[in-house]
Amino acid sequence: MEELQQILDQALRQFAEISDEDELEQVKARFLGKEGSLTALLKGLGKLSAEQRPVAGARINQVKQGIEAALQQRREVLRKNRLASQLAEESLDVTLPGRGMGTGGLHPVTRTLQRIEQLFHSLGFASASGPEIESDFYNFTALNIPENHPARAMHDTFYIDPQHVLRTHTSPVQVRYMESNHPPLKIISSGRVYRYDSDATHSPMFHQVEGLWVDEEISFANLKGVVQDFLKRFFERDDLRVRFRPSFFPFTEPSAEMDMSWSGGWLEIGGCGMVHPNVLNHVDIDSEKYLGFAFGLGVERLAMLRYGVNDLRLFYESDLRFLKQFK
Ligand code: DAH
Repeated sequence: MEELQQILDQALRQFAEISDEDELEQVKARFLGKEGSLTALLKGLGKLSAEQRPVAGARINQVKQGIEAALQQRREVLRKNRLASQLAEESLDVTLPGRGMGTGGLHPVTRTLQRIEQLFHSLGFASASGPEIESDFYNFTALNIPENHPARAMHDTFYIDPQHVLRTHTSPVQVRYMESNHPPLKIISSGRVYRYDSDATHSPMFHQVEGLWVDEEISFANLKGVVQDFLKRFFERDDLRVRFRPSFFPFTEPSAEMDMSWSGGWLEIGGCGMVHPNVLNHVDIDSEKYLGFAFGLGVERLAMLRYGVNDLRLFYESDLRFLKQFK
């Protein structure tokens, strides 16, 4: 019994002196481990008489519980100390940027589209849209390009089935819009178009912006004014000049191709003209009463000129080194 009290006192004293958690576990073994002093006493119980055994057993157990309680208490103290000193030592700068937190940016073509739309909106044009999978009727027939017309061959069309194509231009949106709205109409429509074509200046998917203004007194002069005003503002160049060359499109009459002045020469930027009476008749707009102009611009061409990009394919290779420059 005396020995027991000594063991307990020893344990409490030794635990209190220890300040290292691992060491504490080692010291614990001195008492409660296989070779521990308390374990030795428990083993010795067998030698006692039947009367003495339960009393001694109970007493040993009490001491054992006392040791375990002291151990647990000390563990807790050491854990708290460790945490406190760790908190005091380490510092965490919560204002540092996280890893892999790069922000995205808009694609240069998207930026260009937004800029184009914004400028036309400021001129009073509304936005309209149409499907990219278009019927042969809207893409061609309703635009005065009947079946077997050679103009169909000019478009390098992707056919989905004999009646459906990936739209080759944004002009079918004109037809769709005029079908469900009455003049006066003043819209632009931008979006993806597709052609079987691919090199430094052509991509099988690209973007166009279509413009349409139909009213009772619309003339080619309005068309010139709108296009010129738009281009000057788009390129932020007051001295920019626009040239109209006679051309042919089945859906306009007369038709023209538009060039703008660029580093001493001229660059083609799209087609235009006065909406052909056949197109107006297709959508039941009185071509005796109403006139309209239409134009189509290549968006990538405008983006390339504005940003100084010399290969159209760069826009569609998803190379981050290229794209990051537009953030
Ligand atoms: N749709 C024509 C093309 O993709 C471009 C165009 C020319 C659109 C004349 C027009 C226009 O609206 O009037 O080649």
